[in-house]
Amino acid sequence: MVAVSPKPEIEARSTARPGQIEHARQIEARKLSRRSFLRVGVFAGLTLSMGAFIASFLGFFNLRKPTGFGGIVVVTAAQVPAAGDDPARITSGKFWLSNNSGAQGDVLGSGATGGLLALYWKCPHLGCTVPWNPTFDGATVSFPGIIGWFRCPCHGSTYSHAGVRVFGPAPRSMDTMALSVNGDGSLSVDTGKITLGGEDALREVAYAV
Ligand code: FES
Repeated sequence: MVAVSPKPEIEARSTARPGQIEHARQIEARKLSRRSFLRVGVFAGLTLSMGAFIASFLGFFNLRKPTGFGGIVVVTAAQVPAAGDDPARITSGKFWLSNNSGAQGDVLGSGATGGLLALYWKCPHLGCTVPWNPTFDGATVSFPGIIGWFRCPCHGSTYSHAGVRVFGPAPRSMDTMALSVNGDGSLSVDTGKITLGGEDALREVAYAV
């Protein structure tokens, strides 16, 4: 029988000194940490690229919510119209801020006593943006003597200063948003809290403030 001599590699390992082994370990550890660093870097780069891609995709197709709409929109005291004045357009919240003097706008006589309303500008009929027309004559819609109405350009639905529907195919009055007055006279309008407008004269106007 022929004796098998040990392989040179195994022999070399077995004869390495402790200092050499430690040095080899340090080199291996350095290689590992470099690999981990590269992996983290690649992952972070991919995440950032993906985020930028999604942001530009949403921006391109205009899928991001307009600033403010959907959350709380603050209206400064200076933006609040005086009672009886034309409503103020608050673009960031997509609403009209209407300040009604007494029963102004309560054209169907539901007993409203006046105050502020945040009227969602989306027409309850098919969703067109409803503008305020300060010169529209109420005589056209059987309310002579009242000048200034919300009048939808799409199919003619007509709403009073308080958003009460008096004419057109819209199924109800303008919708309202929750509103509260802050200590400094500014208002906080919660554009995510929308109450559907009344469908009849009995519950047409419920002023928020
Ligand atoms: S969308 Fe306003 S009346 Fe039709």
